[in-house]
Amino acid sequence: MKNNKTPYTIHVRQPGFDFDADIPRYWFHNNPVITHNFNGYNLLFPEFERFFVRSVWYFKNQIEDQTLLDQIKAFTGQEANHAQAHEGYFKVLRKQGYRIDSLLKYYKKYAHFIERNASPKLRLALTAAAEHYTATIAGIVLTTPELLENMHPTMKKLVIWHSAEEVEHRSVAFDSLNAVGVTNFTRRIAFMMTSIDMLFWSTITSFTLLRQDKISLFKSFQYKRQYNKQFKGVNARMRRSLLAYLKKDFHPSQFDYMDQAHKALKEVGIRV
Ligand SMILES: [Fe+2]
Ligand SMILES: [Fe+2]
Repeated sequence: MKNNKTPYTIHVRQPGFDFDADIPRYWFHNNPVITHNFNGYNLLFPEFERFFVRSVWYFKNQIEDQTLLDQIKAFTGQEANHAQAHEGYFKVLRKQGYRIDSLLKYYKKYAHFIERNASPKLRLALTAAAEHYTATIAGIVLTTPELLENMHPTMKKLVIWHSAEEVEHRSVAFDSLNAVGVTNFTRRIAFMMTSIDMLFWSTITSFTLLRQDKISLFKSFQYKRQYNKQFKGVNARMRRSLLAYLKKDFHPSQFDYMDQAHKALKEVGIRV
């Protein structure tokens, strides 16, 4: 049975990033809350992207569809490059004075705990759910050009490259999950677990960085309200796209932003 539904080739691109450039502390619309939300994801990416790769790779001998196997290889290459690039960005955060090592240490312990205790199929289902999160965020970024306006060139290039590749490989973990017979029940449970996990860790990382900047809770809520007003409708679009995952006939290819991804890649000088 043919399981993959990704109609295009997945390309592994390796653009360089100038992390020595003077990247502003609040590079996302000069808004500390949203900047640290993204910084928080950035801290989590390397660990969880390597977890994704191991979770999918575990099943490679059970997958017969050659196209899907090729896509798994390309997915592995893309995620490995993402992890490396985001680790490069750690240098910027350290230079800006953020103390990130305890956060990284706790998250690593947590990720290893999940890896040791979850079954291979649950790990694959957690990966497919998390991939839906990354692809949803990527889709929002690529279809809302105002979000990227006036962004420092290094960060813009990093965000566009990662978003484009997340959109490109969005179906790989999901198709692998179908190929090895993970049930819809496990898929949905894993989505709920991933949602709690994402909310928990993105809150912890954002608030830790905001605290290090001595920004009060009250001021943080004001910055969040300012963002909600500035980008009205983004949160609702995000919620709708995320919840689609719970539908019985869901497939990641139902959301296709490849045209926008290619346009954005060209804009920052990365090959399509
Ligand atoms: Fe990634
Ligand atoms: Fe991914």
